[in-house]
Amino acid sequence: MIAVTGATGNVGRELVRHLAEAGEAVRALSRGRARDLPPNVRHRQADLADPDGLRPVLEGAEALFLLVAGDDPRGVLEAAKRGGVRRVVLVSSLGVATRPAAYAHAAAFEAALGDCGLEWSILRCGGLASNALAWAQTIRADRQAAAPFGGAGLPVVDPSDVAEVAAAALLGPGHDGAVYELTGPAPATPRERAAAIGAAIGEPVRFIEQTREQAREQMLAFMPEPVVEGTLAILGEPLPAERRVSPDVERVLGRAPRPFADWAARNAEAFR
Ligand SMILES: NC(=O)c1ccc[n+]([C@@H]2O[C@H](COP(=O)([O-])OP(=O)(O)OC[C@H]3O[C@@H](n4cnc5c(N)ncnc54)[C@H](OP(=O)(O)O)[C@@H]3O)[C@@H](O)[C@H]2O)c1
Repeated sequence: MIAVTGATGNVGRELVRHLAEAGEAVRALSRGRARDLPPNVRHRQADLADPDGLRPVLEGAEALFLLVAGDDPRGVLEAAKRGGVRRVVLVSSLGVATRPAAYAHAAAFEAALGDCGLEWSILRCGGLASNALAWAQTIRADRQAAAPFGGAGLPVVDPSDVAEVAAAALLGPGHDGAVYELTGPAPATPRERAAAIGAAIGEPVRFIEQTREQAREQMLAFMPEPVVEGTLAILGEPLPAERRVSPDVERVLGRAPRPFADWAARNAEAFR
């Protein structure tokens, strides 16, 4: 059985579907309730911030898909080991490599994984295409999308691609000790992403350039300050390593990563 944390999120939802379609027994985990899970998938409420509470939930799992959440990665991994987990796939951030000070939290999870004695793989994701869901309300209401640094392109990655790579690493051989960098197939600017959503819904979306300060204030509502600063630095002054298109999705899946327009087409309903 495979335990999937973050099972109701953009990546986790897709991963649960892939694993269930592959005939795997899946236990879907999140703090809140879950809707629309595939038949035969059991959901259990669990908080990664509470490793003791995780123990019974991970009992009988052979593999674990793990998010960076809570402050006790070693406690979580100990609970996993006691439950019988032998393999862990961690979804981390490219920022661990490029902005270590801002991504120290994710780095602590990676470090704990490295010396826990289990098989492991790390998926360092660039920005997710699904971050564009932050525009859903204003696109639905006014056909407008606001973001800073409208002309700065980054190769955002489709959460479905992350989920497929995770499924491969959870199920197949040859991924132990791998650190994959997951990106899309080409840099796309916020302005281009807004236009792609317009194309997907069949109506133009007006792009509004925010100042750095406006974006900072908005982000502080749901992210800690160091992460906000790190994210703004990535969005505004991306390093060559952050603009780079990684070969890893193709290496693992044997096909190119999906472009942003593909994600927009599959998620058009969220913006109509
Ligand atoms: N967004 C990006 O650009 C980006 C870039 C690099 C890496 N990542 C990583 O990718 C991961 C997955 O992204 P996503 O878009 O799929 O996330 P998401 O849509 O925000 O969903 C997060 C999922 O995790 C669950 N969750 C959150 N905190 C939890 C906790 N303490 N214990 C147990 N479950 C918890 C949520 O459900 P409940 O709230 O009900 O618990 C939900 O199922 C993120 O965790 C992030 O660290 C994201």
